[in-house]
Amino acid sequence: MINELSRLEDEALQEVVDATTKKELETVRVTYLGKKGPITEVLRGMGKLSAEERPVVGQKANEVRARIQEAIESKQQRLEEEELEQKLAEERIDVTLPGQPLPRGGKHPLTSVVEEVEDIFIGMGFEVTEGPEVEQDYYNFEKLNLPPDHPARDMQDSFYVSQDLLLRTQTSPVQARTMEKKDGKGPVKIVCPGKVYRRDEDDATHSHQFMQIEGLYVDRNVRMSDLKGVLDTFVKKYFGEEREIRLRPSFFPFTEPSVEVDVTCGLCGGKGCRVCKHTGWIEVLGAGMVHPSVLEMSGFDPEEYSGFAFGMGVERFAMLKYGIDDIRHFYTNDTRFLSQFKRA
Ligand code: PHE
Repeated sequence: MINELSRLEDEALQEVVDATTKKELETVRVTYLGKKGPITEVLRGMGKLSAEERPVVGQKANEVRARIQEAIESKQQRLEEEELEQKLAEERIDVTLPGQPLPRGGKHPLTSVVEEVEDIFIGMGFEVTEGPEVEQDYYNFEKLNLPPDHPARDMQDSFYVSQDLLLRTQTSPVQARTMEKKDGKGPVKIVCPGKVYRRDEDDATHSHQFMQIEGLYVDRNVRMSDLKGVLDTFVKKYFGEEREIRLRPSFFPFTEPSVEVDVTCGLCGGKGCRVCKHTGWIEVLGAGMVHPSVLEMSGFDPEEYSGFAFGMGVERFAMLKYGIDDIRHFYTNDTRFLSQFKRA
């Protein structure tokens, strides 16, 4: 019986050594020290022993139990310490490590162009204004001298929201809105950037949504030469001092006379190449002197006041400056395209 107890002790201590988790250790405890375990069994069978044997075996059993118990407890403590250490190691933060760099975005090229154009005109005394994208037919067309059945409405296929609401086809309605607020008193000197919409098929040069920047200057004695001077200054500041402009007669219902403005080609310097279709010139703007009826409809006396207006396509200005060949690049959000415009 003594031998049996010694064997049990050896076996149990070995299992304690082998246990690698608290769960395994608990199994060892239950197996050897539990109510149905072999030591309890031995103690239970003591009645059958002789009076001399009983205290010897009893003592041995208690000793064995105590040593197993102690081994389990110290192992338990070790496992707990190890567990804690492992957890601490896992959760350790090295505060001296350099942080992970955050990817930095950049401005969309259209935003940059708008800001650059705004700055140039602010430098010439213009203020920046805005107007609604969902516009009344009244401001988008009628107040600009385009009554309901005017054939020039055909030039701008429109998205109508209702009978008299549409997505504005141009930023020109902001001209009428701004003048209207001035109670017939000048000067009015604004530029207005914004989105416009036309029912065009999207291709390399057309987009159903694009951006324009409108300009308007109304005051006493504003002349065509002022328009030419302002646009020449603008083009030289935006594209470069060596660039020239020319005005060609054109038609817009809200300006008279109306012109289209060309700038010398940046690629060939005006000699003629593929980009300018061998003309040396590239069309960049529509402009003209504000039509007397438009002034009058917005409360300005055309006998006293005159003005000029112009409108430019932002995408076109960006495409010419950065050599972009497809307007859809601006709207498809391909980061391979956009990331080229990150600021250094
Ligand atoms: N709104 C005209 C267009 O979209 C451009 C323009 C603006 C022409 C102002 C003359 C004056 O085509």
